[in-house]
This record gives sequence, C-alpha cells and structure tokens, in this order.
Amino acid sequence: MHAHVVMARYVIYWICISYDIKMKENQSIGSFTTEKGSKVIVRAVSRSDSEKLRSFINELSREKTYIRFQGEEMSREAEQTYIDGFVDSMEKGKALKLLAFKGDTLVGVADVYLRDRVESHVGVFGLTVALPYRGRGIGTLLLTLMLKHVRDAIPALRILTLGVFATNAPAIRLYEGHGFIRHGLLPGGLLHKGEYVDHIDMHRIIRR
Ligand SMILES: CC(C)(COP(=O)(O)OP(=O)(O)OC[C@H]1O[C@@H](n2cnc3c(N)ncnc32)[C@H](O)[C@@H]1OP(=O)(O)O)[C@@H](O)C(=O)NCCC(=O)NCCS
Repeated sequence: MHAHVVMARYVIYWICISYDIKMKENQSIGSFTTEKGSKVIVRAVSRSDSEKLRSFINELSREKTYIRFQGEEMSREAEQTYIDGFVDSMEKGKALKLLAFKGDTLVGVADVYLRDRVESHVGVFGLTVALPYRGRGIGTLLLTLMLKHVRDAIPALRILTLGVFATNAPAIRLYEGHGFIRHGLLPGGLLHKGEYVDHIDMHRIIRR
C-alpha cells in the first residue's frame, strides 16, 4: 500500500476518534471575567488534577458546608480512582466536569454525570466554589458555562437534576434564576450539623 494511502487512513481514523470524544480531558473552555469582576480560567478536568481536587473537596468537607461530605477526608487513592473513572465517562460523552482557576488555585468546580439504565437520559448536577472566592460570580459563571456546553458534551442528556439543602438560600436562588424548577422535597431528608433539614429536588429540561 502507498504511504500516502496509509497516512490518509491514519488521519481519517484520528478525526473519527476525536469526533467521538465529546469533551477531552484538560480541554480549554476559556478565560472569563465574571459580572462581579473576578477573572478566572475554565477548563475540563484532567487525570492530573486529582491532588488539587482532593485538597478542594477536603477543605469543603472540613467547612461542613451544604454538600454530602461533612468532615470525611478523601484519600489520594480514592480521589485518583474517582477522577480516572470520571475522565473515562467524560470521554465517552457521559459526564462533564469544569474547573475554574485563579492562577494555579482551583476555586470552583461544576459537574454533571449521567445516570444509568432507565435513567440514562438524566444527569446529576453539582456546583461548589471555595469559601474565599464565593460571592464573586464564579458559581454563576460555572453554571452558565455548564448549561452552554453540556448539551454537546453529553448527547444523551435530556433532564438535568440536582438536590439542594432547603437551608441553602443562595444556591436555590441561583438555580431558580437559571431555569431549574422544584419538583420534590423530602422532609428531613438531610442531617446537617445535628439538625434534620429538608432536601429539595430540582430539574431543568436540556432537550425534549
Ligand atoms: C452556592 C455556590 C456554588 C454559589 O457560588 P458563588 O460563586 O458564591 O455564587 P455567585 O457569586 O455567582 O452568586 C450567586 C448568587 O448567590 C448569592 N450569594 C453568594 N454567596 C452568598 C452568601 N454568602 N450569602 C448570600 N447570598 C450569596 C449571590 O448574591 C448571587 O445572587 P445574585 O445573583 O442574586 O446576586 C457557593 O456559595 C458554594 O459553593 N457554596 C457551598 C457549596 C454549595 O452550597 N454548593 C451547592 C450545593 S447544591
């Protein structure tokens, strides 16, 4: 076979492979100034972000903020396993995790993963901003960017869902302002700092 035919096949193969990968690890989304004047760089997660993400989640866990982790520590090994699995899902078009950085500092994370089986059209959304960087528009920016990119990144996604602590007024306001609708409430569904708190379920239609 001629060398140029082999080369052409190789190029076509790589175009096909690249087309199939919905969002690549480390893929740049861009650099942004939030409405409140904060400058951040946003990109997709990569396998080598594990250590930064571990520090980020462990800090939120120690804070006992409105998330599932309430003081538990993620180990290096557990975090790397989680991130490797997440990036694999992302490259199959079944998940997306966006990271916001100020210089080298990870300041915010937004993610969506697709459920499976009879819920394989339903995605679960999560959003967290590091305590010193809250109230500067980074959460709003990450949510907006997620809503912009998730349709292409996760082709099977039809409905985005999330769960939020009923006591988390800023987050509920943020989600309602971006088209999320409440569809359920489990009274006392969360135990937060020794108190039973209602767990609110919300959703947003991504495609019909
Ligand atoms: C919820 C969260 C992601 C919002 O991110 P953020 O970068 O602080 O949000 P923004 O600066 O974009 O502000 C979003 C809205 O929340 C409000 N807000 C943010 N921090 C607030 C605070 N401490 N108190 C009251 N309102 C606050 C803002 O005023 C803004 O509302 P507006 O647009 O009407 O002015 C962030 O507070 C966070 O990570 N909290 C802890 C974890 C968490 O609750 N995650 C969500 C789980 S469902």
